[in-house]
Amino acid sequence: MDMKQRIAELVGEMLKTAYPEAQGLPEDLASLLEVPPDQNLGDYAFPCFKLSKTLRMGPPMIAKKLSESVSRPEIARVECVGGYLNFFFNRENFAREMMEAIMAAPEKWGSSKEGEGKTVCLDYSSINIAKRFHIGHLSTTVIGNALKRIYEFMGWKTVGINHLGDWGTQFGKMICAYKKWGNKEAVEQGGVEEMTRLYVRFHEECEKNPALEDEGRAWFKKIEDGDEEALSIFRWFKDVTLRDAMKVYDMLGVSFDSYAGESFYVDKTDRVVNELQEKGLLVESDGAKIVDLEAEKMPPCLIIKSDGTTIYATRDLAAIFYRKDTYNFDKCLYVVAYQQDLHFRQVFKVVEKMGYDWAKEGLIHVAFGMVSYEGQTLATRSGHVVYLEDLLGRAQEKALAIINEKSPNLENKEQVAKEVGVGAVVYTTLQNNRIKDIDFWWDRALNFEGETGPYVQYTHARCCSVLRKAPENMPAPDYSALTNDEAQALLRLLSRFPEAVAEACLRNEPFMVTRATTEIAKAYNKFYYEHRILDDDAAATAARIQLTAACAQVIKTGLYLIGVSAPERM
Ligand code: ARG
Repeated sequence: MDMKQRIAELVGEMLKTAYPEAQGLPEDLASLLEVPPDQNLGDYAFPCFKLSKTLRMGPPMIAKKLSESVSRPEIARVECVGGYLNFFFNRENFAREMMEAIMAAPEKWGSSKEGEGKTVCLDYSSINIAKRFHIGHLSTTVIGNALKRIYEFMGWKTVGINHLGDWGTQFGKMICAYKKWGNKEAVEQGGVEEMTRLYVRFHEECEKNPALEDEGRAWFKKIEDGDEEALSIFRWFKDVTLRDAMKVYDMLGVSFDSYAGESFYVDKTDRVVNELQEKGLLVESDGAKIVDLEAEKMPPCLIIKSDGTTIYATRDLAAIFYRKDTYNFDKCLYVVAYQQDLHFRQVFKVVEKMGYDWAKEGLIHVAFGMVSYEGQTLATRSGHVVYLEDLLGRAQEKALAIINEKSPNLENKEQVAKEVGVGAVVYTTLQNNRIKDIDFWWDRALNFEGETGPYVQYTHARCCSVLRKAPENMPAPDYSALTNDEAQALLRLLSRFPEAVAEACLRNEPFMVTRATTEIAKAYNKFYYEHRILDDDAAATAARIQLTAACAQVIKTGLYLIGVSAPERM
């Protein structure tokens, strides 16, 4: 049921009939079709401007000539306005076809087999060990999770990877601090908080006693050399950090297929270094080894520091080849803040220079903007840090207060409050295109009106409530009940939902799903206010109920794809 495709075919036939001799006409007519800004101008419009050169005729004339040629039952009429050919669907027919198409497999509406046989690796969240999960990690976690779901829905095999930041001298310092001033219970209890305290203490003590730096470095050396004690403390720090992070992941419904982080790749960097050497790409520079990227107008990519150790970029290079070998990905996405733009451009370029063509299209930095919180940026040093766990907890509390006020008799209020609170935060993060900075405000995020998560969730719950009241045995639907403007607007949005999902996948932009879902919710509410859903006309009621059921499911799907749950009662 692809109306766009059908109209494109129709335009093709019209062109053939009207201009049997014409050469060089565009082939992909569907991509030329536009959606008129105003419903009164039709369901789809074909702009004739692009043909006027080939056909040597003014666009209005072409439109006129085309409109005379072919007619079809699914089109009620065609109008020529300016150089446009405006198509108006036969409304009842459109309603029937749409409802039949969606109801045949409601949960699958918008899904596709487009990605079958293809694999995408998604590197997202990628938190740092011994650091708390702050709101800065919100976007990567939420965008990555949404993309994973969207790709899966499009038929791709997905591999979610949490590329942990678990390598660096800071871990030596932390062990050193732990040995001097820490204890097991405090770390078990305090988790990341306690590790941070130890780390801060280390730096304070260093000012008085600079020799500590060497001790810290020595501990890191022990980790590198596989010393049992150092390794076991280091692993334990990792477990404790992940245990804390899991709380956030559980709240968000986020999961990963792999937690292979930086340390995993340390012993896999040789292969990259050797290959770079063999291919003559490695250059000495002040005792360090680099890949020159001057021709690419980038600073050189540092591979080995003058002290012989590898860096973040080296480990990312090793990770790329490991992932390619292990998963044979078609695409590998890096959902990482825009600040790392240069890093990824350099690393990807190095792979390309090594002669791997798949780097060009296959390695993608999915960058995003900054998150600030009620007008304040997040600076760790100024002490203004918003932790994700606290943010989500507060969202839940606030949602609970609203629910207590609006629906005091709701069952399992706590659970719904969690879904609404978390939904509000996630929705806000995925509301606009990625690169736009986000300023998070409670009042905006938790508003039940306007474009918010709770608003869309509430609309879904409203649909569910209508469905609960539906009569048991309904006759065959009378689709003439869905020919009004409001139902048609809704049907149109439902018909375009699959395009929105496909587009979101193609551009790695989950907000396109957020937007399509929000538009459906808005259109349903309009329909709901203007029309009685349940009335004496059983066949008309059946049609309106079916439309409600389709909306409920598509909104639920849309919310699922962005990582938001859809409670049935609110
Ligand atoms: N841990 C890094 C950070 O928090 C992000 C890692 C992103 N992934 C990667 N493969 N470099 O900044």
